[in-house]
Amino acid sequence: MKLRDNAGFSTICVHAGQEPDPSTGAVITPIYQTSTYRQDALGEHKGFEYARTQNPTRSVLEANLAAIEGGKAAFAFASGMAAEGAVMTLLQTGDHVVVTDNTYGGTYRLFERILRKYQLDFTYVDTSDIDEIRAAFRPATKMLFLETPTNPVLKLTDLAAACRVAHEHGVFVVVDNTFASPYVQRPIELGADIVVHSTTKFLNGHSDSVGGVAIAMRDDHIEWLQFVQNAEGAILGPMDAWLVLRGTKTLPLRMERHNDNAQAIAEYLEAHPKVTRVFYPGLASHPQHALAKRQMRGFGGLISFELGSLERARTFLNSLELLTLAESLGGVETLISHPATMTHASVPPERRVHLGIGDDMVRVSVGIEDVDDLTADLAQALARL
Ligand SMILES: Cc1ncc(COP(=O)(O)O)c(C=O)c1O
Repeated sequence: MKLRDNAGFSTICVHAGQEPDPSTGAVITPIYQTSTYRQDALGEHKGFEYARTQNPTRSVLEANLAAIEGGKAAFAFASGMAAEGAVMTLLQTGDHVVVTDNTYGGTYRLFERILRKYQLDFTYVDTSDIDEIRAAFRPATKMLFLETPTNPVLKLTDLAAACRVAHEHGVFVVVDNTFASPYVQRPIELGADIVVHSTTKFLNGHSDSVGGVAIAMRDDHIEWLQFVQNAEGAILGPMDAWLVLRGTKTLPLRMERHNDNAQAIAEYLEAHPKVTRVFYPGLASHPQHALAKRQMRGFGGLISFELGSLERARTFLNSLELLTLAESLGGVETLISHPATMTHASVPPERRVHLGIGDDMVRVSVGIEDVDDLTADLAQALARL
């Protein structure tokens, strides 16, 4: 498959990394559900020896994701956390990392509960303020780990400015782009060295697979990640690789619809008298709306809003009929959650307050359904308050 050098994003999503199967002509990459490969003679094989090291379905997905994110190489892992764990092995004992303060709870747990045991050090700052990033750098700082927009308050970091400051200090930048997706936000084009995703979310898009990916630009990073993927072995299985590969073909179409539906719902909620406050980068009331317009294509599928009290949030959530109460995000169906008791329950209450996560906050991952059906369900649940 020959793609033009300037092929568009949708063409890349559908085709990049994929050739019709050489043995049958199958247009869709098969699921190579095998653990090993026959060798023609001693020392002669077709580039595949053992499936932890190489699997054709996974390799095709990795080539596809590298092209989609605009990186040089991608490595697929068993989960988003496994991808992050592999990336963190680029560091050594004594290294220091500056991290977005309300990064995903699982990332915080990995850093604080596991990696501190190996004498890595972490400083959490509000990375929406470039001066705070600069002030946190020390001689031992090796990595800046960013997440934007953040969960669930949807605060943004100016990626171009943050990457510039990091590189001035000899610090490399990792961006968790799970919340935005590569359709909405392009960290590598803005200077990031590595992008990580939970492919469980928008990249797969159908809530039927758990996976992760690390996409790198620097040759030394690529060489190490390839080694670690095989040496630690937290690989993505062929069935999950195939599901993500199917998902990325429709990523642009899904993201356009996620963007449109979320914008309409954010505006609906903001105008509703029973909603106290709405957090969505696409609203003019978002404090970083200008940055969002510059840095994002559309504003993504996540919205958070406040209802005034825990009791009101509970009544509202228990009254919904179409929106599904569940953790996770990025699927075609609309999911709704209560961060204080669900995704952020393990965060101490005083830290939740510091991060702006109130007990009355609700988060929606807006799906691709007909928006009128979504607003009708929101309306009937809000009417009960
Ligand atoms: C922003 C972000 N990063 C990483 C992860 C971890 O991904 P996984 O659940 O696939 O391990 C999640 C999961 O919710 C997430 O939301």
